[in-house]
Amino acid sequence: MSTEDITTLVHPAIAVFFVFPLIGMVVHYAWQTRQRRMQTAAEGKSKIAPVVGPEHLKLGRYLSASVVGIALLGNAQPIFSEMLKNQTWAKESFRVTFVILMFVLTISSLVLLYKARTSLWRGVFATLTGMGLILIGCQPEIYRRGSEWYVSHYYCGMSAAMLMIFSLAIVQDIYKDRSNGWRKAHVALNCIALFFFIGQAFTGTRDLLEIPLSWQKPYVEQLYIQNCQTAPCEVKAAPAPAPQAPPP
Ligand code: HEM
Ligand code: HEM
Repeated sequence: MSTEDITTLVHPAIAVFFVFPLIGMVVHYAWQTRQRRMQTAAEGKSKIAPVVGPEHLKLGRYLSASVVGIALLGNAQPIFSEMLKNQTWAKESFRVTFVILMFVLTISSLVLLYKARTSLWRGVFATLTGMGLILIGCQPEIYRRGSEWYVSHYYCGMSAAMLMIFSLAIVQDIYKDRSNGWRKAHVALNCIALFFFIGQAFTGTRDLLEIPLSWQKPYVEQLYIQNCQTAPCEVKAAPAPAPQAPPP
C-alpha cells in the first residue's frame, strides 16, 4: 500500500477502534441514567449507582470532541492530499491559507467551548465551531454526494458532529432546567444522532469499497471516462455482461 492508501485508512480506523466503542459506552450510561431517574421518581430509590449520570457526562464530553475530531480528519485527508497532488498552493494560495486557518480556528473554538461557563460564550463558541466545520466541508476537494444526500457520508457525519456540539453547549441547561425540557430535547436529538452514527457505519464502509487503491486509480478513472463518453455521466460503472450459457 502507498502512503496515500494508508492515510485514507487513518480516519476509518480511528472511527472503528475509538469512536464507535465510545458511542457504545455513552449509550450504556445514558440508558442507566434514564432508568435510575425513572425508578427514583416512581419508587423513591434505585439500585443503579448515582455515578451513572456523571459518567455519561464525562464520556459524552470525550465523544463530542472525538466526533468533531474525526469529522475534521475525514475532511482534512481528501482536502490536503488533493491540494498536494494538484499543487493548489501555486494557483490558489489564498484558499489554502484560508483552509489552514479554518482548521486552527475550529479546533480553538472547540477548546474554548469546553472552557466556557456562561450560556452566551457557550452559544458563541458552539456556533463558531459549527461554522468552521461547514466552511471546511464546503471545499471543492470534498466529495459530498449531493445528488444522493440521503445516503451521503458527508451530510450524515456533519449532522452528527453538529448534534454533538449542541449537546456540549446545553450541558448546564440540562442540569438547571427543573421542567426537564432541555433533558427531553437532549434525548430526542441524540436518538437522531444515533441513527446518524449507524448511517456513518454503512456509508463509511461503502465509501471504502468505492475508493480504489492508488495503483488501481488510473485504470478505474479511465473506465469512468470511457463510460461517460458513451453513456450518461451518472452511469459510473459499465453494466455487468449477461451471463453466458454453459457449453453443452
Ligand atoms: C449518543 C449520544 C447520546 C445519547 C443517546 C444520550 C442520551 C441521554 C439520555 C437517555 C439521558 C438520560 C435522560 C433522562 O434522565 O431521562 C442523558 C442525560 C444526559 N446527557 Fe446524554 N446522550 C448522548 C450524548 C451526550 C453528550 C455528547 C453529552 C455532553 C457532552 C451528554 C450530556 C448529558 C447530560 C449532562 C445528561 C444528564 C445526566 C444526569 O442526569 O446526571 N450526552 N443523555
Ligand atoms: C462517527 C463516525 C464518523 C464520522 C463523523 C465521519 C465523518 C466523515 C467526514 C465528515 C468525511 C469527509 C467527507 C467525505 O469524504 O465523505 C469522511 C470521509 C470518509 N470516511 Fe468517515 N466518518 C465516520 C466514520 C467512518 C467509518 C466507520 C468509516 C469506514 C469504516 C469511514 C470512512 C470514510 C472514508 C473512506 C472517507 C473518505 C476519505 C477520502 O475521501 O479519502 N468513516 N468521514
